[in-house]
Amino acid sequence: MPPAAAERNGRLTALVTGAAGFIGCNLVERLISDGWSVRGLDDERTGDWGRVKAEVDRVDGSLEVMSADELQVLCGDVDVLFHLAAEKHNTPGVTADRTIEVNVAATARLFSAAGSVGVPKIVFTSSLYAYGSMGPDVMYEQDLPHPSTVYGVSKLAGEHLLRATERSYGVRWSVARLFFIYGPRQLAAGGYPSVVVRNFERIARDEAPVVNGDGSQTLDYVFVEDCVEALLRLGLGDHHGLTVNVASGTSTSVNDLTAAMLAVTGSLLEPTAGPADWTAGSRRVGSPDLAAERLAWKTTTPLDEGLRRVWEAA
Ligand SMILES: NC(=O)c1ccc[n+]([C@@H]2O[C@H](COP(=O)([O-])OP(=O)(O)OC[C@H]3O[C@@H](n4cnc5c(N)ncnc54)[C@H](O)[C@@H]3O)[C@@H](O)[C@H]2O)c1
Repeated sequence: MPPAAAERNGRLTALVTGAAGFIGCNLVERLISDGWSVRGLDDERTGDWGRVKAEVDRVDGSLEVMSADELQVLCGDVDVLFHLAAEKHNTPGVTADRTIEVNVAATARLFSAAGSVGVPKIVFTSSLYAYGSMGPDVMYEQDLPHPSTVYGVSKLAGEHLLRATERSYGVRWSVARLFFIYGPRQLAAGGYPSVVVRNFERIARDEAPVVNGDGSQTLDYVFVEDCVEALLRLGLGDHHGLTVNVASGTSTSVNDLTAAMLAVTGSLLEPTAGPADWTAGSRRVGSPDLAAERLAWKTTTPLDEGLRRVWEAA
């Protein structure tokens, strides 16, 4: 068993996989400013260590090629494992095999390694895609999931792997089902083709933002610092077996989002219509009620403020 945190000068140690990614770099910086010691794993597949503006114990490596021994070393002395590294939805060139290899097989090996060296707690970033819903009903944690993408299936599998790890090793765990996280340092390339990133890039080039279809499709946006706060509460609190949405509960249409983005920039450009895509007519919003009840957490950054911070950071 690893020494308790108190024996290591009272500092908690976090392992963050995907530490050089969008959410990962924000989480790492928050943990370090809160006094944690942080070990980060990343292979820069979609991330960039240059984004991490804090002293992290950096481990360069790909989860799926690490041996059981290497994974155990990675997990040594860790108080909380935040598992963020993943193949994501819609990443160009990523096959179903690859998604299963990283998000399920390598994730299973990581959880086993963590359990076998006595990591007491795992926080896992799942996704609204685990629900498989395109609306119109609000998504609640107790809904029966029916994921309809390989990515969604893989995220739901990751959630269930935590139960298997608990059974084998007694690990405590929590799941954060993230909705649409946005904020500074989100990259357009490689990861989610976020409409926020893409259209801010267009406006910066003085090109009209593109709205696919009629723009009435709605999404639930959460500023990255609010997301990080939720992950920390899951990591620190005395929760076990808790699955919560990290959602605002507000559905924002792409038309309203684009108008808010243009207002933030002061641009006089008019949005231009792009072809309707698979999101046409969808309403993807999560209930924030359980997170409010169990974590005393809710989003605190209004959309226009969050968008302003993305624009100013660019
Ligand atoms: N951003 C969102 O809106 C959102 C929504 C739902 C769920 N999520 C989940 O949150 C987590 C973080 O997402 P993000 O937006 O920060 O993505 P990101 O792509 O910016 O970060 C993922 C990081 O993991 C690293 N990585 C990927 N596969 C790896 C591997 N096999 N070995 C080592 N490192 C690897 C990448 O290089 C990257 O730095 C992911 O699990 C994602 O599925 C994100």
